[in-house]
Amino acid sequence: MTQDTAQETYVFLNTINKKLPQVLGGKGINITIEKDGKVYDDIIDAMTGAAVGALGWGDEDVPKIVAKAVENSTYTFPFYVGNQASEDLAKFYIDHSPKGAFSSALWCCSGSEANENAMKIIKQYWLERGQPKKNRFISRETSYHGFSLGALSISENNRATNFLDILIDQKNICLKMPACYPYRLQKEGQTTEEYVQELMDALEKIILDADPATVASVTIETLPGSTMGTPPPPPGYLPGIRRLCDKYDILMHLDEVMCGTGRANPNGGLNCWENYMEPGQFPDIQTVGKTLGSGYVTIAGILVGPKIKEAYEKGSGMIIGSHTYSSHAFNCAVALGVQQKIMDNGLTKNIFEKGNSLGKKLSDALIPADNIVGDVRGIGGFWSVEFVKDKKTKAMFPKELHVAYRFQDICFENGLTVMGMQGCYSNKTGEGDIALIAPAFIVTDEDIDEIAKRFVKSVDELSKALKEEGEW
Ligand SMILES: Cc1ncc(COP(=O)(O)O)c(C=O)c1O
Repeated sequence: MTQDTAQETYVFLNTINKKLPQVLGGKGINITIEKDGKVYDDIIDAMTGAAVGALGWGDEDVPKIVAKAVENSTYTFPFYVGNQASEDLAKFYIDHSPKGAFSSALWCCSGSEANENAMKIIKQYWLERGQPKKNRFISRETSYHGFSLGALSISENNRATNFLDILIDQKNICLKMPACYPYRLQKEGQTTEEYVQELMDALEKIILDADPATVASVTIETLPGSTMGTPPPPPGYLPGIRRLCDKYDILMHLDEVMCGTGRANPNGGLNCWENYMEPGQFPDIQTVGKTLGSGYVTIAGILVGPKIKEAYEKGSGMIIGSHTYSSHAFNCAVALGVQQKIMDNGLTKNIFEKGNSLGKKLSDALIPADNIVGDVRGIGGFWSVEFVKDKKTKAMFPKELHVAYRFQDICFENGLTVMGMQGCYSNKTGEGDIALIAPAFIVTDEDIDEIAKRFVKSVDELSKALKEEGEW
C-alpha cells in the first residue's frame, strides 16, 4: 500500500510546504517509509522515532490490550472522578522501582507536560512546607526538558534560544549549572574524581550565591539525549548532587523521559538512575514518558517520592489544578498492558544486555579506525557517537557542513534510522555533531550485528565523502 505522496502538506510541522517522508507500517524492529516517491521497506528502526519504541512495531498483543482498554474505559474528568487503570499503572511503576523510591504518580500526555507538572508540584511542595521563597529551579547548560515554555525554561539548547524573551527569567528563576560532559569538559590530566568535584563545587556556588532558602530544585537528565548525546554520569556525580540537595534542603528532580522506563536499567527494572545512585539514594521526583506507552499511546508521567507526598498530606492535602487528560484511563490501561508484556518477557533485561553489546561493537569498530568518530557513549539501549574533524584535538566540523544530518540521511539510504543532532557542544554556535540510536527492547543478537554493520558502513561512507570534498 502506498499513500498520497504529493509534495503539498497540510501539517504545520518541520517543513511547511513539503511533505515529510511518510510511514507506511512497521513490524518488530523494521519500519517501512515512503520518501520522495520511493518505498524503503528494509529499514531497521534503530532510533524508534525519538527513543520511544520498546515493544517494537505491530506487536501482536497490542490490539488485544487496546481493545480491552477501550471496553473498560469511560472518560471522567480526573480532578473529580478517578479510574482504576491510572491507579494500577502508578502501583506498577512504584512496585518495579527500588523500595521507598516513589509513592505516587501523576499521568499526563507528553514529556514536556510531565516537566511542567513537575515544576508546579515542586513549587506547591515548598508552599505546603511554608517556604514561599523557594522559587529557583537549577538545571544544566546543554539540556532538554521539553518544548513547552516552562520545560524550555529549565532547558538550554538551540531549540530554546529563539524563545528566550518569553521564557521564565533565566537570571533569577531558572538558573543553569555546567553540563556534565567528560569527553569535552573534563580537562586534560584531570581525574574523574576531580572533574566531579569541580561540578559539585560549581553547583554549590550557584546554590550559595542564590541563597539556599530560595532554591526549589535541581533538575538533571539522568542520561542526557537530544542535546549532547548520551554521556553517562561519572561515578559520584549523581550521588554528589543528592548529597548537596540534602545539605541545602532542595528537591532533586531526575528527568528520565528519554533514558528511563526500561531503556537503561541494570536490574531488569525501569529507572536509569539505578546504574548510578548509591543504595538507598533516590530522586525526590522523576519525570518519565516515551517508552512508557511505546508509541502506541501518548503518555508520560511524574513519579513522586514519599517526602513530597507526605508534605502534601500534612499540608493542604490537595493538588492545585489538573489537565483534562491527566490520568487518562485508556492511555494508562494500554501503557500498563505494554509494560506488563515488557516485564513478562524480560525485555528490559534484554535491551540492557543487547544495547551494551551494540555500544561495545560500535566502540570497537569506530574508535580505533580512521574515520570521523571521536566518541561512542551510552549505556543499555541508548547510545550516541560524536563526530570530529580530528580525533586527537577533538576539533569540530563547521556547523554549515551539517555532518550529523548528512549522517542521518546516509544511514537511511543504508536501511537504518538514527537521529542526527547539531549543537551538542555549543547551542550558541550550533557546533558539535552527534547521532543517537535507541532501538526497541526486542532486539536479538543478529539485529545488533546488523545495526552495527549498517552504522559502521554509513560512518565509512560519510568519512570518505568528506575526505573527497576536502573537509576532513
Ligand atoms: C529528557 C527529555 N525530557 C523531556 C522531553 C520532552 O518530551 P515530549 O517531546 O514528549 O514533550 C524530551 C523529549 O525528547 C526529553 O528528551
